[in-house]
Amino acid sequence: MTQQSRVFGRDYAAAYDDLYQDKDYVAECDLIERVFEMYGQGPTRRVLDLGCGTGGHAVILAKRGYDVVGVDRSPEMLANARALGSSARFELGEIASVDLGETFDAALMMFAVLGYQVGNADVQAALASVRRHLRPSGLFFSDFWYGPAVLAQRPSERVKVIDSSHGQLIRVAAGELDARRDLCVVRYHVWRIEERRIVAEVREQHPMRYFFGLELELLLAAAGFELTRLGVFPTLDDEPTEQTWNVALVARAI
Ligand SMILES: C[S@@+](CC[C@H](N)C(=O)[O-])C[C@H]1O[C@@H](n2cnc3c(N)ncnc32)[C@H](O)[C@@H]1O
Repeated sequence: MTQQSRVFGRDYAAAYDDLYQDKDYVAECDLIERVFEMYGQGPTRRVLDLGCGTGGHAVILAKRGYDVVGVDRSPEMLANARALGSSARFELGEIASVDLGETFDAALMMFAVLGYQVGNADVQAALASVRRHLRPSGLFFSDFWYGPAVLAQRPSERVKVIDSSHGQLIRVAAGELDARRDLCVVRYHVWRIEERRIVAEVREQHPMRYFFGLELELLLAAAGFELTRLGVFPTLDDEPTEQTWNVALVARAI
């Protein structure tokens, strides 16, 4: 069955945890906690995970004692998160318009969620939402695709083969640059193979925005944040360069 669907639809969501089984969520949560310690002002107890997906970070942070709320617009991704039986709460919603009526000590947008907000108005609305859910001095942490590296390296075609408990997955990702809009449009094609037969096939197209340092500083300032740190993801130790596609930001609510 071939399906051309919205992003993170049923079939892609079903494959998501298998596709990213090599992503080290534990190490990323260690980094998140380090960010809380290094840049936080006051205790960090309540964490909002925007674009939480299948709960990779939310579930680990909840297990470590944080009070976590995850928000995502994909019911299928959220269903997988909820199935994990975590104390984290998961809410269906759009980042821009969600209004939980509560505030948090920190907010996350992990695994390039910021890049799914493609137009300026989308990014501004998302950052406004982050800000209204944070207490003063609350932290915002997010990894994103770094413009200078995307332009220097340019997107290429990548093939990933994954052995999972439900057969083998093959994913081809082909990216195309739309430099006028600061977008890399990635076309994913995924096949699930069981006993040498293709049993499922899904295609999704993900327009991903990449960002530049000064642009983020401006966008964050306009939304009521101070940009505190830009560093190479996933360690934050090094300064971003044309070689570092994945970069993270730490911002503090003013
Ligand atoms: C690459 S996944 C990352 C999921 C999770 N943060 C992780 O690290 O595994 C991106 C997620 O962001 C969600 N997302 C993107 N834009 C969104 C928006 N505007 N509102 C709600 N969810 C959004 C998608 O539905 C998807 O689940």
